Order: sequence, then structure tokens, then C-alpha cells
Amino acid sequence: MSIGIGIIGMGVISHYYVAGFARVGQCKLVAVCDLNRAKLAAHDAGPVATYLDYRDLLADPRVVGVVINLPNNLHFKAGMEALAAGKHVCCEKPLTLSLEEAQILAASAEELGLCLLTSFHRRYNLHLIAAREARLFDPAARDIRAVHAHYDERIEDHAGADTWYLNPASCGGGCIADNGPNVFDSLSAVLGRLRLVDVSARYDETGLDVGAQVELLTGGGIPVTAHLSWDYAHGERKDIVLEDSQGRLTEVDFLQDSEGFKTSLYHEYEGVLAHFAHAIQAGGEYGADGVDAARLVAQCYAMLAAKRAPAANKLVLGGRLVKLLRHSSHARGMTLIEARSRCVRAGELHELVSTDQAGLGSGDRVDRVGFIGFMEATGAGVIDVGDTFHIGDQAIGVVLGFDECHFPNHYNILISTDRLLTASDIPPATPGAAVRFEETV
Ligand SMILES: NC(=O)c1ccc[n+]([C@@H]2O[C@H](COP(=O)([O-])OP(=O)(O)OC[C@H]3O[C@@H](n4cnc5c(N)ncnc54)[C@H](O)[C@@H]3O)[C@@H](O)[C@H]2O)c1
Repeated sequence: MSIGIGIIGMGVISHYYVAGFARVGQCKLVAVCDLNRAKLAAHDAGPVATYLDYRDLLADPRVVGVVINLPNNLHFKAGMEALAAGKHVCCEKPLTLSLEEAQILAASAEELGLCLLTSFHRRYNLHLIAAREARLFDPAARDIRAVHAHYDERIEDHAGADTWYLNPASCGGGCIADNGPNVFDSLSAVLGRLRLVDVSARYDETGLDVGAQVELLTGGGIPVTAHLSWDYAHGERKDIVLEDSQGRLTEVDFLQDSEGFKTSLYHEYEGVLAHFAHAIQAGGEYGADGVDAARLVAQCYAMLAAKRAPAANKLVLGGRLVKLLRHSSHARGMTLIEARSRCVRAGELHELVSTDQAGLGSGDRVDRVGFIGFMEATGAGVIDVGDTFHIGDQAIGVVLGFDECHFPNHYNILISTDRLLTASDIPPATPGAAVRFEETV
């Protein structure tokens, strides 16, 4: 019997899943969801159920498993809700924005006995499979001195109509968050677990990593370099190159024989769907690959943050959460003060508030707010409008401004986010968790 699958998020990538169902008999598309009605139009007249709210899709008993094909910052919430509804989950990469979220999602899947896999489509690339079958990556069969992988593209070619990719709060970062998981997973699939040795990055004028070189090591000590770019001027390059001790190179080109942009994705997503159907039936897959990729992404950003700190114009202002808040308001009536920076002394307490209201300036009223909690500054420093605010490893958003309705007791520090966030939406937000405000370079 064919397993009923629903897709949540009918943007660019949904196309490859929909095409894949036509060729994969083990599962069939029974429902689709997008909050944009126009994206559902192709299914208006057919047998596939259409939903504007994914909670309704999750309540559909014909849906046994879901493909989560939403912007990256929604993967965790939708994944948790899908598991809670008893659905198996195949989530687009990256599994989540932070390692903590990935671990929570994987633990929930295991606890509930539901399949969780990340849609690492390159695993099913026929050239990668052929190279693996020929034992090209096996150091016992081949002379391998080094491995080089390339994941080069121009992000504007890949992004849908939406620009969420270019917002680190919804994408999770730049090319390391976006392409890192795919390249780390492809390499791990053929070389085993990788250890991060070093990373360097190039940034655009907004501080986004648009290029990176990641140095890794296999368990057997073979050096692996992953080159990532989001501003590649020559189309696309996606490959793994093996170098032997004579310096001879063998390339496994993911895009070989694929005429036209993204055409290799058709057969790769068939592989994803066939694997998902198999994993639902066989059981025992609880997101380990997605968690491992999230580990390497988190380690890259932590290493880069540590490297960048001394070169920046100001010290990172660190602190810890002393109280969590979990409520929100749509009529709070805060006011952004004129000052664009505030000096903070060690030991001071301030309140952290998210808002999804955009385009505000000094004197503007802020009504839509999510309360995250209170922090204690563990050192003195300066918080500026535009600083990036982190809880643990997770970038939450950018400082929008300050409200002083409770001053001199404390400031409300307003953080600009895509949607209202309270402590309940931020897994690393626990009492005592580290927070930091960092200059956005
Ligand atoms: N574009 C690529 O080349 C590529 C490749 C591999 C993986 N991915 C991953 O696939 C995922 C989707 O990427 P995309 O390029 O298709 O994005 P997209 O922006 O084209 O599509 C996202 C869709 O989600 C919908 N949506 C947003 N919030 C929703 C909600 N709450 N409920 C229902 N629908 C909602 C949007 O209306 C949109 O149609 C991302 O995680 C991305 O990282 C993209």
C-alpha cells in the first residue's frame, strides 16, 4: 500500500517532491499546504487535499508522513507539531537553525517512535552513488591524500520570490547555514563522521557569510576542505574532488549530465521520497544525520565568532537569562526612544522583547511584542541598534531600539524578529543561558 504524504510549504523545492511522487510508488501525495492560496492552485481540482493552515493538514488522517518544506526558521516548530500529531517527518535542510533544536527534535522523534529524516538530496545523486559503489572514497581501496568539496552558487538564483534566505534570522546565517548542511552531509555519507579543524569566511556589507572555506578531518586523518559560496559568478559548482598522493584529481560532479538549472534535483528528490517511505516502514531513523550537520554548522559559526571578536570595534556584551517570559501582546504601546545606543554596566538587568513590526524609527509606537525574559549583563558594554542578539548559539534577531517605560529600573530592548518570539519559542532560552549582543560586521 502506498503511504500518504503531505507537503507543508509549496515554494520552489515543492516542485521536485511533486514530480517525484509520479515515479515513486511506495508513497503518494495526499495533501498540500501553503499559507499563500495561489501556491495551492495546481491542486484545486485534483484528489490532493489543500490546506492554508498546516495544523489542518496535520489533522488529516490520510497523512501518514509530512515533508516540511518551509523557510528554515519554521522547521523546528512545524517538525515538533508534526511529531506531536503522530506524523513521520521528512524535513528540508537545515533540520533546524540551532544544534539544540535539532537535538530536541531528534529526541522527540525517538521518544515517539516516529521517523525523522533530513532531506539531504545529494545523498541520492547518481554520480555520488556510482562513485561510492566504485569505492572511490574508500581509503582501503584508493590512494586519497585530500578531499575538496565545492558548493558554489549565486543565492539569488536559488531563492524563491521570498527573500527570507537573505535574512539570517530566518535562514540561520549565510552560506554556511544554507549550503553547509548539504555539503557536510554528502561528505559524511561517503567519508564518515568529520571533525572541524578550521574555518574562514568572507562577509558581505551586511555581515552575512557569502563565502567560506571549512577545513575538516576524517576519522582516519584525511584532510577535507569544503568551499562554499553564495556569490559565485560562474553559475553553479557542486562537486567532490579526490586528490591522490601524486596530486592527481578525480572529480565527482553532482551536476554532470544535468542539462539546465536544478535538473539534477528531479532524480535526487525521487531518492528522498523512496528513502522516506522505506524509513517509515522500517523504523529506527531519528534525525541523526540532520543533527550531525547542525553540529558542524554550529561549530563553524562559534569558531568564526571567536575569531572575529578581537577585530571588531567593540567587545561583545555578554550576559545570562535570569527570568523567562512566555507571553505576547498585540497592543503593548511601547515607544522607541531617540538614542541608538545604550551603555550597560555589569550586573544591570534589562528586559528582552521581540517584535515583528518592521520599518520603525525613533518615536514610533511598538504594539506587537513577544516577551523573552530578563537578562543580567555579566560585563559592561554598549548595545547599539543593529547589533545581533544571540541566546546560546542561536541568533535571535537584530536590535531595533529601546523603550524606557520602566526606566530607571530597566530598559526594554526591542529585538527585530520575523515573528513574535517568547522564551517558549527559543529552545536554548533556559534560566542561566548565555546571551550576547554582538556588533554586526
Ligand atoms: N531553493 C533551493 O535551491 C533549495 C535547495 C534545497 C533545499 N532547500 C530548502 O527547502 C526549503 C524551502 O525552500 P524553498 O526555496 O522552496 O522556499 P520558498 O520560499 O520558495 O517556499 C517556502 C513556502 O513556504 C510557504 N510558507 C511560509 N510559511 C508558511 C506557513 N507557516 N505555513 C504554510 N506555508 C508557509 C511560503 O508561502 C512559500 O510558498 C528551505 O528549508 C530551503 O533551505 C532549498
